[in-house]
Amino acid sequence: MTPVAEKLRDEIARGGPLPFRRFMEAALYDPEGGYYRRDRFGRAGDFFTAEQVQPVFGRLVARYLRKLAGPGPLQVVELGAGRADMADAFTGFRYLPIDIGGPALPDAVDGVVFSNEFFDALPVDRVFFQNDVPVEARVGWHGDRFVWVAGDAVDERTEAYLRRYFPAWQARRSAEVHFAALDWIGRIAARLRSGYHVAIDYGYTTRESARFPDGALMSYRRHQASEDVLAEPGERDITAHVPWDALVDAGARCGWELVSLRPLARTLLEAGLEDRFAAVLGDPAPLPLRLQLKTLLFGMGETFQVLVQRPAGPALPAARQP
Ligand SMILES: C[S@@+](CC[C@H](N)C(=O)[O-])C[C@H]1O[C@@H](n2cnc3c(N)ncnc32)[C@H](O)[C@@H]1O
Repeated sequence: MTPVAEKLRDEIARGGPLPFRRFMEAALYDPEGGYYRRDRFGRAGDFFTAEQVQPVFGRLVARYLRKLAGPGPLQVVELGAGRADMADAFTGFRYLPIDIGGPALPDAVDGVVFSNEFFDALPVDRVFFQNDVPVEARVGWHGDRFVWVAGDAVDERTEAYLRRYFPAWQARRSAEVHFAALDWIGRIAARLRSGYHVAIDYGYTTRESARFPDGALMSYRRHQASEDVLAEPGERDITAHVPWDALVDAGARCGWELVSLRPLARTLLEAGLEDRFAAVLGDPAPLPLRLQLKTLLFGMGETFQVLVQRPAGPALPAARQP
C-alpha cells in the first residue's frame, strides 16, 4: 500500500468517507508521497513527455505570447511550471516559473500569467446524480480498497454551479466541481494589474459537457489512461478536464474580458505560419522537430485549448504599448 493510501485509509477510519477533493489533493500533493512531490524523473513516463513536443512547443508558445503582448520587455509568470520545460524558450522574457515549494505568485504582475496543464491538476469535488438529484461523491474504504460512497445532497453553491455548467442532467451520472480552479482565477486577477492570463489545457464548454456523462476524471500511469482514479494514490497522475465557461465567468466576476478560447492547433499555426515555421524549426528542419510540430498540430492540437483573458482597460502599461 502506498504511504498516501495508508494516510487516507486512516483518515477515513477516524472521520468517515472523504470528499474527493481531499483524496485528490493528498494523492497528488501530499508532502510525503503525493504524485507531484515524488522524484520528478520517476513520473516522467506517465504522461505526454516534454521530449515529444519540446522545444517546438515552447518556441511557438513564446512567439504567440510575444505577438499577443507586443514588443518590449515582458514579464511571464508560469503557474504549475513543473520542471520548467519552457525555460529555454522563454529566455527572451523576464520569466518566473512557479510550482509548489517554490516562489509564490508575485503581488503585482504586468505581463502574462501563463500555464500549461495547471488547471486540470487542481483538486475537484465530484457529485453523483441519483434520480437527477446531485449528491456528494465521497471516498470510503472497503475490504482492501478505496470505494465511491454516495454522501449527502450537495450544498447550494455546488447546486448552482451544476445548474449553470451542466444544464442537462438527464442521463448524467456524475460531474466534477472545480471550485479550486475558480479560486485560482480570483488569486491571479488580484495580482494581474495589466496584460493577459493565458491557460493551455484540455477541457469542455458547457455545451460540450454532455460528452462526459460520467464526468471527466482520468488517471494516468506509464501512458495508460484509466478511469479508476482511486487506485494507488500517489503513484498515478489524476486529472479533471477544465470547465472553460466556469473559468471565463470567474474572470468576468473579477473584471476580466475574454480575449479568445481557441484550439491549440490554430493558435500555434498562427504563431508559426508567418515564416512557415522556419524560425521555430530551423532550415532545413530536422526530422525530430518536424515530428514535434506534427504531434502538436495533429495529435494534441484539437484536444487542447488556449484560453486568453485580460483585465479590462489598457492591455499593458502605456510605456509598453508599441
Ligand atoms: C500536470 S502538471 C504540469 C506541469 C508543466 N506545466 C507541464 O506542462 O509539464 C501540473 C503542475 O501544477 C503544479 N501545481 C499544482 N498545484 C499548485 C499550486 N497550488 N501552486 C503551484 N503549482 C501547483 C503541480 O505541482 C504540477 O507541477
